[in-house]
Amino acid sequence: MKKSLILLAGFIIIGVTSCEYKYIDPIEVEITDPVSFSEQIEPIFQNKCIGCHASTSPVLTTGNAYNSLIDGNFINTTVPESSKLYEKVAIEGHPEGNNTLSATELALILKWIQDGAENN
Ligand code: HEC
Repeated sequence: MKKSLILLAGFIIIGVTSCEYKYIDPIEVEITDPVSFSEQIEPIFQNKCIGCHASTSPVLTTGNAYNSLIDGNFINTTVPESSKLYEKVAIEGHPEGNNTLSATELALILKWIQDGAENN
């Protein structure tokens, strides 16, 4: 009985710590310089999103991404963390697999929205 309890505790600890390792915290990455949409955000979309979002909303191809995000109401500059774009990629971890965004990419997107989500 005692042995199985220790075993169970062990599994719980392993479970909890492995979750911590997987969790990406964008707050850990601090971006201080202003973020450029065309130079820093569109390349992320180009790399990791347009495989699916070339015609699916939001359309994220270079040159179309900005209008698609603004017109589709995916950006909330008043409460940046609540932007649909940010929630989708940071909280839902969309997309799954190899194209999940890194902590730095998430921080860049959040900072860009905090800067006022300009088409710069
Ligand atoms: C493997 C294909 C695929 C990739 C890659 C992908 N998406 Fe998606 N995305 C989808 C599908 C399918 C949906 C609709 C279903 C859903 O909401 O999950 C969607 C939905 C979304 C939505 C919500 C749309 C809405 O109307 O609510 C956003 C925002 C989004 N994707 C952003 C992104 C961003 C940013 C990237 C790149 C970092 C990305 N997606 C990469 C397939 C993909």
